[in-house]
Amino acid sequence: MPAAQTPDPRQHAFVQSILATAHSLSANSPNRASTKAQGVGSAPVNIALSKYWGKRDAVLNLPQNGSVSISLPGLGSETQLKPAVAQDSVWLNDQQLDASAPFAKRLSEFLNLFRTAEVPFFEVVTQNSVPTAAGLASSASGYAALVLALDDLFDWQLPMTQLSLLARMGSGSASRSLYPGFAIWHAGQQGDGLDSFAEALDAPWPEFCVGLVEIDVAEKPVGSTAGMQQTTAACALYQAWPAQAERDKAVIIDAIRAQDFSRLGATAEHNALSMHATMIASWPPLLYWQAESVIAMQQVWTLRQQGVEVYFTMDAGPNLKLLFLAAQKKAVSAAFPGLKVIEPFSS
Ligand code: PMV
Repeated sequence: MPAAQTPDPRQHAFVQSILATAHSLSANSPNRASTKAQGVGSAPVNIALSKYWGKRDAVLNLPQNGSVSISLPGLGSETQLKPAVAQDSVWLNDQQLDASAPFAKRLSEFLNLFRTAEVPFFEVVTQNSVPTAAGLASSASGYAALVLALDDLFDWQLPMTQLSLLARMGSGSASRSLYPGFAIWHAGQQGDGLDSFAEALDAPWPEFCVGLVEIDVAEKPVGSTAGMQQTTAACALYQAWPAQAERDKAVIIDAIRAQDFSRLGATAEHNALSMHATMIASWPPLLYWQAESVIAMQQVWTLRQQGVEVYFTMDAGPNLKLLFLAAQKKAVSAAFPGLKVIEPFSS
């Protein structure tokens, strides 16, 4: 029987300090904080408009810079969590994963932070409605849904900012997936990591659209953590990134509040290309793009020259996410057959 591993002491202390809040919250209510038979959680994927790239503390998963995102309703993860006795069992999209599979190993390592005498192991059943690990943020929705399921299972009833802190430990971008609409993840400054969480930016924008251009949905060869390590260790250009990313974040927040789409789109596209420039300029080089990614970028630039206002952003994968307003939906969909369009505020 595989034994659960002891978590890193700093990670353990961080999680315990958050759970202590839950216990003090529940002190007035004796019926709370009891383990249920099952916990459930669901969360959307999110796409960063100004990106997180680089960790200032890899153990506590603290970012070099803050970021802003938009969540995509209808695309994400749904998770059920149950206590188990002998070992963790992990199910992804109706298939049980071997304990040695990277997805299951990463999940079990995260769950090491939450095991109790009563719940030594977990059964995790997750449905992902986006391709896993293809740069479409499945880890963001996955860890946000898992933290919500833990909160439900253990009946912590933690506030959203505390849940965001916990989700951050699974995957940085998961801190933002707890919210619908726009979210801001504050980089924070404290060494203890308790000020690095995401919050909702409540600014509904009914015309705002995101289009997914799926170039390749196979699992990416270099995960984002390894990609960040490679970039921060071996790229002189990276020195300029954290300050630019903070400036872009501020511009995008202003543009969202003012509903200034041109400013938002141009800053988001420039931000994504700047992030990718740091990856390409590391050694060995890190290039997530494929030939078809570049063709799609050029199509976006051609459309803009023709007066169709559309911008793109890209993450750690070859796929493009297009940003446009509803008035341009027809023109953009015509140029990208099969485009999956999400209107985050439409319903
Ligand atoms: O949350 P992670 O560790 O998968 O990193 C996400 C990195 C990017 O998607 C490239 C940028 C972002 O802010 O989501």
